[in-house]
Amino acid sequence: MTEEKKVGRRAFIGTVAGTIGGLVVGAAAGWVAKPAERIQLPGETVTRTVTEMRTVTATAPAPTKPMKIGVIGKSVHPYWSVVDKGSAKAGEELKKAGLDVTVSFWVPYKEDVPAQLKTMDSYIAEGYAGIAVAPSDPDAIIPIIRKALDARIPVITIDTDAPNSDRLAYLGTDNYMAGRAAGEAMLEALKKMGLAKPGGKIAMGTGSLTARNSLERMQGFRDVVEPAGYTVLEPVNDNEDAAKALELAAATLAANPDLIGAFGVYAYNGPAWARAVEEAGKVGKIAIVEFDATKENIEPIKAGIVYATVAQRQYFMGYYGAKLLALMNQWGWESALRFYIPRYPSNKIFDTGVDIVKKENLKAYYEEVVGRGEPVDWTPD
Ligand code: BGC
Repeated sequence: MTEEKKVGRRAFIGTVAGTIGGLVVGAAAGWVAKPAERIQLPGETVTRTVTEMRTVTATAPAPTKPMKIGVIGKSVHPYWSVVDKGSAKAGEELKKAGLDVTVSFWVPYKEDVPAQLKTMDSYIAEGYAGIAVAPSDPDAIIPIIRKALDARIPVITIDTDAPNSDRLAYLGTDNYMAGRAAGEAMLEALKKMGLAKPGGKIAMGTGSLTARNSLERMQGFRDVVEPAGYTVLEPVNDNEDAAKALELAAATLAANPDLIGAFGVYAYNGPAWARAVEEAGKVGKIAIVEFDATKENIEPIKAGIVYATVAQRQYFMGYYGAKLLALMNQWGWESALRFYIPRYPSNKIFDTGVDIVKKENLKAYYEEVVGRGEPVDWTPD
């Protein structure tokens, strides 16, 4: 394991513990998304706060030329609209501070590796000042990241990493640990729902068999539920096509009448399982754990169909991603990276953290998210 990964993991363990313990702990801290605080290692002093970052931004000298920052996501979904809002907010703040910055956001309709590469290539040709990308294929993206860097365009990854590329940093969830957290929630759900059974079958629905976030989540999940005696079926892949996800969930249910659990790896997978389970008249007979907290994820939790979700904080992937890229142009790459990424360059990961949300803590989570300034498209009641 590389030093970088170790740091990311250790940092994340702190996040998960703090999060489960509460939504309570977070609320006391006020703003949970302080990067310096979040990735703080034992014995390290926190010196930077969000307020300080804003102050520093405000005093940055005006750039000599207009800057375009491009954010590239993975598919059309409300999950990505939140990333868009985060990067747009960063753009607004930078503009207010006198920087001539335009932040654009782009996603393909569904998983589309060639379209991501093509878009990145066009940003390079247009002389963008920075690119944040969520690579659906971490290997296919390697040459184009190199091309951008050779053209002196800084590139970071968000949401899902490409650690074998030369990307300068990754801002997002520690997906392996988040997958483990999903596994723990599944074990709890099975117990509480009276479904725990040696050898019981659990299905997984995902939108990618190449993106690292998908692979790491599934590995983390397996690493928790398999040693507990459950059988995890091979994942069904819909390539980020929500309609296909529903079809696959229904087909998996039909083919496995003895299924006791389902893990929705991407944002729309949990809702797909929820609907399939409801339509099959199996509510209460199948434990569902999902990812993310858009309205379509929260409604089935309220209805008692989904047991828990691992809610990502994708707003901050967009927000800090856009800020970091713009400020790399202002202060020099190294200075901005050192400012935003703790222990850079030995660590290149900014762990945005997750919240574990269930029916019982939905209200507390809602208050937490609103308090952190993240956009919410649902209410807790
Ligand atoms: C993942 C994204 C994915 C999205 C799809 C999220 O959980 O982090 O990579 O594109 O779900 O809805």
